[in-house]
Amino acid sequence: MTEASKKRLRSQEWFDNPDNPGMTALYLERYLNYGLTREELQSGKPIIGIAQTGSDLAPCNRHHLELAKRVRDGIAAAGGIAMEFPVHPIQETGKRPTAALDRNLAYLGLVEVLYGYPIDGVVLTTGCDKTTPAQLMGAATVDLPAIVLSGGPMLDGHHKGELAGSGTVVWDSRKLLAAGEIDYEEFIKRVAASAPSVGHCNTMGTALSMNSLAEGLGMSLPGCAAIPGPYRERAQMAWATGKRIVEMVREDLRPSQVMTKAAFENAIVLCSALGASTNAPPHLIAIARHMGVELTMEDWQRVGFDVPLIVDCQPTGRFLGERFHRAGGVPAVMAELIEAGLIREQAMTVSGRTIGEEMRGQFTFDREVIRTVKEPLKQSAGLLVMGGNLFDAAVMKTSAIGPDFRRRYLENPEHPGMFEGTAIVFEGPEDYHHRIDDPDLPIDENAILFIRNCGPVGYPGSAEVVNMQPPARLIKRGITELPTIGDGRQSGTSASPSILNAAPEAAVGGGLALLATGDRVRVDLKNRRVDMLVEEAEIERRRAAWTPSYPEHQTPWQEIYRSMVGQLDGGGCLEPATLYLRIAETKGLPRDNH
Ligand code: FES
Ligand code: MG
Repeated sequence: MTEASKKRLRSQEWFDNPDNPGMTALYLERYLNYGLTREELQSGKPIIGIAQTGSDLAPCNRHHLELAKRVRDGIAAAGGIAMEFPVHPIQETGKRPTAALDRNLAYLGLVEVLYGYPIDGVVLTTGCDKTTPAQLMGAATVDLPAIVLSGGPMLDGHHKGELAGSGTVVWDSRKLLAAGEIDYEEFIKRVAASAPSVGHCNTMGTALSMNSLAEGLGMSLPGCAAIPGPYRERAQMAWATGKRIVEMVREDLRPSQVMTKAAFENAIVLCSALGASTNAPPHLIAIARHMGVELTMEDWQRVGFDVPLIVDCQPTGRFLGERFHRAGGVPAVMAELIEAGLIREQAMTVSGRTIGEEMRGQFTFDREVIRTVKEPLKQSAGLLVMGGNLFDAAVMKTSAIGPDFRRRYLENPEHPGMFEGTAIVFEGPEDYHHRIDDPDLPIDENAILFIRNCGPVGYPGSAEVVNMQPPARLIKRGITELPTIGDGRQSGTSASPSILNAAPEAAVGGGLALLATGDRVRVDLKNRRVDMLVEEAEIERRRAAWTPSYPEHQTPWQEIYRSMVGQLDGGGCLEPATLYLRIAETKGLPRDNH
């Protein structure tokens, strides 16, 4: 036995504390009522929480209800005791006004569970977009041994012989519907075809991105992220994950040893290589801040921008999760990045081995899906971090810039990467839908579409609404894309090269609040700036006249959230929560409850 394995477990303070017989009896008795025995609970076996995110309301994660059985088997095989508990559901496509509002709520709930119950380690069941960051944030704050079990993507969707990818098929079909090329029935059929099985989105949207980044961070066993939900390997991974967390408790291997600055830098590099979601920066920054690691948007630019795109997955490319898995998934991508010297190989993983030891040499056999760094799909394909007089920080997914957009906006012979346009400003998605096809709205190919009041405070929660499509009359003329800019987010499944996540948002007085329809705006990718070409005196006049306006709070949580939430460049965290670090150690145990 090693020193660490002899350490008294925190669960024993509940179930086996002779100094406190009254409380021990009280803690024990109710956990016996479904058949657990004193022998088990007082054996010194680690109690392993299974943070269950699946439910009927959370279909992307629902098969975790099945997978948990294999997790339990793995826990038992290694000598642990499983205790499964629910996590507040965060369903990306079902929750109004936006699932992003609930990431921090699920986080808060998880912190209370992990800290306040007799738990020695936890399996985090991840899948749908915000379920991964919410739980990694919670695991970071508490800093008990924790391991991610992804639910995996759905099988590849097909419709009429072509791939149909989650979300991406919606954005593409919306244009066909607007152009009159398909009808409503066909629209629904196309979209439904993208969801052929259990699992989360099969595109490299936010779900597959965040699960891949969790693996890149070292928080899941290698190879976990991309295994499709229905594959046998998924259930086998569930067993291995359950087994491993028991060992991690014995080794006292905690998130703080895994999620270091080096690990976050690795995740940023991986993010670029995957063409991952624009939701990755706020989520990774939030996880880092709860871990006490300083991570900023400038880290994204410094570490991530020059990394090439090597994975050919929708929305930036062609393929879906099932094919990505068969091509080797995250380990194969990491191996390419290691080969190119882009990965900090010494970063630790939950396996107890470093990322270099785990991933080096895991090359792909499917060069259509995973390229080499020397022959990538695109050079310098990371997220471009921009500033200017409209915001301090915003990102543009340069890997999503298609040839048409490049030709129309970026091939300026005198100033490559620079263009100007006339602002059309929408106050939110309702205003956009209401007016976009208004014939009196002066939109032509020189327009830049803006949307504001869609950030954390304004929406509330920050909504995925910036990928606005042009009016139907322009789409019918073949103009399927206009530049779009906003303080909301966009779906990770969208291939729009929007400039988004603008911070500070309009609702708290960011520069976007002062923009008016008709203003000229200059976008300059080379200098990473977006500016309204409005005289300083006029900007000041508008600032003096500005008052905040956003919809009223509809629930208590909306009010609490708005009173504490920070901006997207800081991860959209509840700011007071970022001051609580590694609480299982720094705060000791909570008081007895009676
Ligand atoms: Fe849940 Fe995409 S909507 S994973
Ligand atoms: Mg989404």
